[in-house]
Amino acid sequence: MKIVLNHKCNLKKEEFLSYFRKLNEMKTNHEMVLCPSFIYLSMCDSSKLLLGSQDVGSYDCGAHTGDIAAAQLKSIGVDYAIVGHSERRLNHNEDDGLICEKINLLLKDEIVPILCIGETKEERAQGQIHRKIERQLQALNGLEQRKRDKIIIAYEPVWAIGTGEIPEVFEIDEVLAYIREKYPKNILLYGGSANEKNICNLKTSKYIEGYLLGGLSLSPEKLQIFLELC
Ligand code: 13P
Repeated sequence: MKIVLNHKCNLKKEEFLSYFRKLNEMKTNHEMVLCPSFIYLSMCDSSKLLLGSQDVGSYDCGAHTGDIAAAQLKSIGVDYAIVGHSERRLNHNEDDGLICEKINLLLKDEIVPILCIGETKEERAQGQIHRKIERQLQALNGLEQRKRDKIIIAYEPVWAIGTGEIPEVFEIDEVLAYIREKYPKNILLYGGSANEKNICNLKTSKYIEGYLLGGLSLSPEKLQIFLELC
């Protein structure tokens, strides 16, 4: 399984260093991609972990104050980048066009994009899950198939993020089956309140190939249990 750890905007420097030591001591056969705050990326020297960023700037290197370019990330060992997370879409008004530009910039520097998609509670109530997913997947249109196949697609229902609620496994599988039909080669992840208590249930999914973890990723102890059960 591919386990992506999204720290979001958490941990001060000393907390991060102590966490990082514990993470390195963990025993697991799963492939872990650590996505800490940007400021800690260059401190992450580990042969056990892969490195990911939580976002990327929408420009190449140059006069873009405050931005971080894909080429800069690549130069410090970043091989993955989350794009289109619902918190970026919501808090920074990121739309599918911008997300598509970011995907192109990442692929140019050989960073694997982890594209997040998922419906809100209202969209779910209105039976619009597939329509929403289909619209968000348009960010992949126009990409050469060889490049498109490399993108990891993470289904993260917005209403499940940080709430402790998750969809029924058959509901997750319905969405992932729909994506799988259109994108047979892409790795599919699930994210949204996945934890050590619901992993045995999630594990019954036919389509989940890994997890994008938020809250759980901050607790090495609970993460260890999750990894053992997964
Ligand atoms: P939680 O696991 O805290 O629900 O967050 C999921 C997420 O947003 C990962 O990107």
